[in-house]
Amino acid sequence: PGSDARAGEAGMPTVIAHRGASAYAPENTLPAIDKAAKLGFTWVENDVQRTKDGELVVLHDDSLQRTTNVEDVFPGRAPWKVRDFTAAEIARLDAGSWYSPAYAGARVPTLKQYMSRVERNHEKLLLEIKNPELYPGIEQQTLKLLGNEGWLDGKHLRRLVVQSFSADSVRTVHELKPAVTTAYLGKPSVAKLRGFARFADLVNPSIGSLTRGYVSTVHTFHGPHGRPLGVFAWTVDDAATARKAAGYGVDGVITNKPDVVRAALAAD
Ligand code: G3P
Ligand code: CA
Repeated sequence: PGSDARAGEAGMPTVIAHRGASAYAPENTLPAIDKAAKLGFTWVENDVQRTKDGELVVLHDDSLQRTTNVEDVFPGRAPWKVRDFTAAEIARLDAGSWYSPAYAGARVPTLKQYMSRVERNHEKLLLEIKNPELYPGIEQQTLKLLGNEGWLDGKHLRRLVVQSFSADSVRTVHELKPAVTTAYLGKPSVAKLRGFARFADLVNPSIGSLTRGYVSTVHTFHGPHGRPLGVFAWTVDDAATARKAAGYGVDGVITNKPDVVRAALAAD
């Protein structure tokens, strides 16, 4: 088992569209992953949280305020936390107009809707379990949904990585479904890498915290599937930083501007 997240073209790091192609369409919406597909990218990243009535939805912030019109639709409901709204309420919100009038009417997708669009687009998914401490049991629930949608069979497993800033959450995912490729978001100390390698296939640090030496050291460990631990760096949005990341030897870069990163890496 294990995803093909590291099967970049001709040694080029895998390019992953962060929250979809989010420089060009509203983040974490279906148009954002359609845009990534149109630009020719197969990997997209998202953020998964849970509504008041237990539906998994795709949204980055723990509040609906920044990326929807929730203040207009539900003015008395500050601070507009995802967990305080039902799925039906969230479905009424416009998640596109804040970005551009051209995207008016885009919705906050449920994870189920999102997975079927990823499937339709023939995309691959770096799924982030966001704020898991707010949503007890979200790991099991996410895996159940992925299983129901056919994403835990052999073929689809290669198109999936589950990540979190919470080591506990990543460990839980690994223990519940050992075949799933997992990533820890952060930069464990070298002394702790052996422990992380028991349940994470990748460690994904911010680009600002990375060095070539750290990437090389990570690659000397082997993850739960017996392959060298991988490294995806985030968030890389300009050519110079993309070349720096490639020079460090990262396996993937997570970017809001996948076209810019691809052009920079192709020119190397
Ligand atoms: O995938 C890496 C990146 O998404 C982590 O940061 O805040 O954008 O979820 P954030
Ligand atoms: Ca994320």
